[in-house]
Amino acid sequence: MGITKICCIGAGYVGGPTMAIIAQKCPQIQVTVVDLNQDRIAAWNDEDVNNIPIYEPGLSDIVKEARGRNLFFSTDVEKAIDDAQMIFISVNTPTKTYGKGKGMAADLKFIELCARQIAKVAKTDKIVVEKSTLPVRTAEAIKSILDNTGNGVKFQILSNPEFLAEGTAVQDLLNPDRILIGGDTTEEGQKAIQSLVDVYANWVSLDKILTTNVWSSELSKLTANAFLAQRISSINAMSELCEKTGADVNEVARAIGMDSRIGSKFLKASVGFGGSCFQKDILNLVYIAKSYGLTAVADYWEQVIIMNDHQKRRFSDNIVKTLYNTVSGKKITFLGWAFKKDTNDTRESAAIYVADDLISENASIVVYDPKVSRKKVLADLDYLETRSSDVNASSILSFENPYEACAGAHAIAVLTEWDEFITYDWQKIYDSMQKPAFVFDGRNVLNSSDLEKIGFIYKAIGS
Ligand code: UDX
Ligand code: ADP
Repeated sequence: MGITKICCIGAGYVGGPTMAIIAQKCPQIQVTVVDLNQDRIAAWNDEDVNNIPIYEPGLSDIVKEARGRNLFFSTDVEKAIDDAQMIFISVNTPTKTYGKGKGMAADLKFIELCARQIAKVAKTDKIVVEKSTLPVRTAEAIKSILDNTGNGVKFQILSNPEFLAEGTAVQDLLNPDRILIGGDTTEEGQKAIQSLVDVYANWVSLDKILTTNVWSSELSKLTANAFLAQRISSINAMSELCEKTGADVNEVARAIGMDSRIGSKFLKASVGFGGSCFQKDILNLVYIAKSYGLTAVADYWEQVIIMNDHQKRRFSDNIVKTLYNTVSGKKITFLGWAFKKDTNDTRESAAIYVADDLISENASIVVYDPKVSRKKVLADLDYLETRSSDVNASSILSFENPYEACAGAHAIAVLTEWDEFITYDWQKIYDSMQKPAFVFDGRNVLNSSDLEKIGFIYKAIGS
């Protein structure tokens, strides 16, 4: 079937950018992105494309080009489902916060709601594409809901996991390492796979489009994220050993990265990985392994998370220890709150946990992030439920200007590797701070010798 109408349920960090690129590259296809969140849809439709709800370099230009031509954002979920031949599900699948599998399993309630809504509305055959990261065998559950509650129309379920990384989403979508499509081995399943291959073939060469069975596709996504996160926990484990032995983790990373079997990417020691995927997907993997009784497999992967939690805690402990064992009443300025540079996403950002620890030690935290508002910072802290919202609010300040944020601080902690931090006037910052002036660089991005020459006491990760 030549697809001419696509609907995507979920206008978030995955659905928004992915559909913008499909619309840009396939002008013959009408792409409608729907979401229950009216504010989010209103922001996607904002006349000024700089106000779209997701910050990704290059995205606003693409939205500008395609929006109103063949890219539409709407809250009319039912109409979009009814019209489309192919429906992508890109809703959030957070870790469960209640009941069985609490803190481990993926919460599939939003996925199930989508499936039920598709079943209710669809009057013609549809191809349903899972885009959200899901536990293995979710496609089967979606299929069962669709087949048993639908209007007798036929559904094909495909798994098409997203491998884009935030901050580089546009480039990752335009030039993917691979596109993975899982589907049924039946003739109808193969036809559905081909329809989706044809969509991507508008800009991706066929040798980069892999087709597998549904479960291999679902598990590949979890496996990819587990391997990537494992590399970070591995180098972070080495960073602690480097600090004790006099080795430098950047040198170690360079040395091992030149071994082509290891490779140089994802070896940057840091305050710990964040983001919406790594922790969630590994916990999910651990939960699945446990549910099959594979305790050794579950324990093996859980260690990646344990190491990451340790790295975040180690960073806040080091701040307290270095500031003479107390940060009570001291002002600590965070440069960066997002979980990485070039995104306004803060989900699972290490900054949240470091701030939470320091607030428990009665520190005052001041935040400057070029793309994150104080409202978001507060919401992130409140979500942890460590203390009342009022106490969080009185412990956190945020500034629009980094120099104001740093003035009078006892210490600066770099939590995100935003490029602009490197080129600040560090002498000016030093002059405005309490002395001795400390910098804790959780991203190893600042120039240690320049800072030390100015007079800072500079602490990096892993050296
Ligand atoms: C990740 C996967 O890379 C992507 O393929 C998948 O689709 C979604 O999950 P994302 O979470 O957006 O993407 O960003 P990523 O670049 O992977 O970074 C994740 C976290 O790891 C960030 O907090 C980042 O700062 C940290 N990181 C990354 C390191 O600490 N060191 C590194 O060397 C690389
Ligand atoms: P991701 O990073 O996976 O894209 P986000 O949280 O950024 O996650 O986006 C998911 C979006 O899906 C949210 O905007 C949410 O409002 C939307 N959503 C969740 N459930 C539904 C639903 N049943 N119908 C429409 N939109 C939904």
